[in-house]
Amino acid sequence: MPVKNRFAELLPEITAWRRDLHEHPELLFDTHRTAATVAEKLRAFGCDEVVEGIGRTGVVGVIKGRTDTSGKVIGLRADMDALPITEATGLPYASKTPGVMHACGHDGHTAMLLGAAKYLAETRNFDGTTLVIFQPAEEGGAGGREMVDDGLMDRWKVDEVYGMHNWPGRPVGSFSIRSGPFFAATDQFEISIEGKGGHAAKPHETVDPTVVASHVVLALQSIVSRNADPVEQIVVSVTSFETSSTAFNVIPQRVTLKGTIRTLTKPMRELGEKRLKAIASLTAEAYGAEARINWIVGYPSMVNSEEQTEFAAEVARAVSGDCEDAPLVMGGEDFAYMLESRPGAYILVGNGDTAMVHNAEYNFSDEAIPAGCSWYAEVVERRMPVA
Ligand code: NI
Repeated sequence: MPVKNRFAELLPEITAWRRDLHEHPELLFDTHRTAATVAEKLRAFGCDEVVEGIGRTGVVGVIKGRTDTSGKVIGLRADMDALPITEATGLPYASKTPGVMHACGHDGHTAMLLGAAKYLAETRNFDGTTLVIFQPAEEGGAGGREMVDDGLMDRWKVDEVYGMHNWPGRPVGSFSIRSGPFFAATDQFEISIEGKGGHAAKPHETVDPTVVASHVVLALQSIVSRNADPVEQIVVSVTSFETSSTAFNVIPQRVTLKGTIRTLTKPMRELGEKRLKAIASLTAEAYGAEARINWIVGYPSMVNSEEQTEFAAEVARAVSGDCEDAPLVMGGEDFAYMLESRPGAYILVGNGDTAMVHNAEYNFSDEAIPAGCSWYAEVVERRMPVA
């Protein structure tokens, strides 16, 4: 079964929505215009219920099938937020908001789910209820968690949830997926190393935190090379090294390190935290300094459920003829919170040979829209078939 014909017809309209969203990107929970646009369209499509303000600026649309003997509720989710990046694409519909850009294709995700909602509200060719879920703050604000905490899953008795992300470097409209852990947990740390500042020519009268912090940075790499089982995945990156001195001749009082640890499983996540804390505090102590560690819990690892992943792949094969095994991703994805709450699956749709997401030259490929919309719609029609 190829891409649904209806989406070929709707392509110019959905593309226009996508480009309008692209021109008006919004950050984190400040997706007011986007949410209002989404809600207005869902009402115009004839959704049975449209609720705004779930998880602050999240929007939910309810579409009832022709029948409801299954009693089943399937949630389809898209993210709406953009990134604090200055767009460099030079596109005629480039961002009109300085310093803000849809550099992760969430404009495309939102437009594709709107397209699927329009089709599903038109045809209602399923037995059960579809929830279209539009979430804010995927990029670091845990908008997915906010919606779950706001009662999203219980209020509408959601049985399963499905999500999608575009993926540069894969053929446009092709699909890939994997079962089990897929995207990483994204914890962060800040280590403040307190020494004793003084004259650069009198190091013996100081406790130099730059030397201590340098040892800490190198020792942290032993978590990956010496503590973790080599067949497991863990990333330890120190991304910021800042001293409290700006002078050539002053040994600083303090150095602050920042970074992130990425893991896919709970044991590795616990290992990373435990070893980081021990290495930082005991290395500092060994040199007569003191380390204060702020461990910032991030998104959990995103884990696809086995049965729903197989089903999602089957739908992808029906839509585009194939579905490849996706590699592990050490980036984070806050659909993880929805998948912690309900079984479901997250799939990647190819974006073609474009710049990578989060790059100033990135753009979502509108050619992926028919495949993406078809996948959403087919998930509903095949999972809740009319008897
Ligand atoms: Ni994204």
